[in-house]
Amino acid sequence: MTSIAQRVMQSNAFSTIYQDLWRPTFTRLFSLGGRATADFDRALRTYLARPGDRKVLDVACGPGNYTAEMGAGLTRAGRCVGIDFSPAMLSTAVRTNSAERVAYLRADGHAIPFADNTFDTVTCLAALYLIPDPLPVIDELVRVCRPGGEVVIFTSVHTEVTRLPGVATVAAVGGYRMFEPWEITGRLHDAGVTDVEQTIIGLGQYVIGRKP
Ligand SMILES: C[S@@+](CC[C@H](N)C(=O)[O-])C[C@H]1O[C@@H](n2cnc3c(N)ncnc32)[C@H](O)[C@@H]1O
Repeated sequence: MTSIAQRVMQSNAFSTIYQDLWRPTFTRLFSLGGRATADFDRALRTYLARPGDRKVLDVACGPGNYTAEMGAGLTRAGRCVGIDFSPAMLSTAVRTNSAERVAYLRADGHAIPFADNTFDTVTCLAALYLIPDPLPVIDELVRVCRPGGEVVIFTSVHTEVTRLPGVATVAAVGGYRMFEPWEITGRLHDAGVTDVEQTIIGLGQYVIGRKP
């Protein structure tokens, strides 16, 4: 928790403005002010909130902004668990995004406290770029996903803009990492995930894969 970005995530004040102010603004920033990321994000949220008797895990859930939406569609034994490292984010999640079939747990994405092959859907949205050692977290996402289940990631990607002199350095000073276009997909493939689909929009990438 040493980077500027990680410290911000520990702040009570930031956790309360995150969902309604920061995340929508940040999402627009990913498409450099355009609507493309916001449009894709809306479609993804609709997809993730589809009804069903599923087990869903939201890794680095922040204030539960996606967790609660994913939980809302679940039926019967369906459950959605959000895990995060930040107590401030989790208390905002409990206060503002509690719902039936939704639970929150303090945990590190490097050591997810669930058994192998547990969840139908495992998400990690807008978080890998903040984590100093992010690729092992992808292995954990895949480990807890059940065969036939899906892993869904939203994170950053290097573009011509981020390759401009100094841009990546400034981002790194703040604690943000840019991924090469093949890094996330490559790690998923190495972990045995198939049907990996990558959509790059502006500075962001959405990646969905299935565990065979
Ligand atoms: C920008 S928020 C993302 C919230 C939400 N997933 C979204 O898409 O809006 C990033 C979250 O990652 C969490 N985080 C960072 N490193 C983590 C780790 N190693 N394990 C669990 N959560 C972590 C932070 O505490 C923060 O709440």
